[in-house]
Amino acid sequence: MDPVAVKRAQRELYDAGEYYALSNVLAPAAGVLVEKTGVAAGTDVLDVGAGDGNVATAAARRGAAVMATDLSPEQVQRGVARCRREGLTVDWQVADVEQLPFADRSFSHVLSAFAAVAAPHPEVAAREMFRVCRPGGAVALTAWPPGSFMAELTDAVRRATPADSHSLTRSWSGASRRSPASASRPTPTTSPAPA
Ligand SMILES: C[S@@+](CC[C@H](N)C(=O)[O-])C[C@H]1O[C@@H](n2cnc3c(N)ncnc32)[C@H](O)[C@@H]1O
Repeated sequence: MDPVAVKRAQRELYDAGEYYALSNVLAPAAGVLVEKTGVAAGTDVLDVGAGDGNVATAAARRGAAVMATDLSPEQVQRGVARCRREGLTVDWQVADVEQLPFADRSFSHVLSAFAAVAAPHPEVAAREMFRVCRPGGAVALTAWPPGSFMAELTDAVRRATPADSHSLTRSWSGASRRSPASASRPTPTTSPAPA
């Protein structure tokens, strides 16, 4: 399977229709992710595959500086509108988890709820998330339960995707690079970034 086509399908899927029903179902997991990784004032958080901002808004409510990204421009628009409605300050940008448009070590927390797990090349997504996380920070994900329909669907797509074909979608992100920030480092929690 062509990974460009996989990502195009992902983008079209999440661009289309309404998202709030799924967002409501997933919101509790985002709250747990933010809480368990120690997000607080003074941290700076990247939400990868943010959807309409479940992780991003939970982190912003805790006082963190937040950058939210998603492959789908419509999701980004939904997130921008939601943050405006809820009176929260979050920066939003279209970006592919396999090609994050940020400098190395830009964030104290790199979080992704049910999104990075959908990348056709998990090792590339993981490398990117650790690259933009500062040493001593936290990279943490939520994933579909093993054996669930979504887990099996994701695995099937990945098995059918060539391993050597992850260079794509720059035109979808088109985003500027963010300079490394200087926020404080939190205690490592789930997955410490390499020093
Ligand atoms: C199941 S939704 C979860 C959204 C959000 N994190 C939440 O908890 O509500 C998956 C999201 O991942 C995004 N996504 C899929 N592939 C992606 C990729 N390669 N890079 C970034 N985002 C991606 C989709 O556009 C979608 O918004």
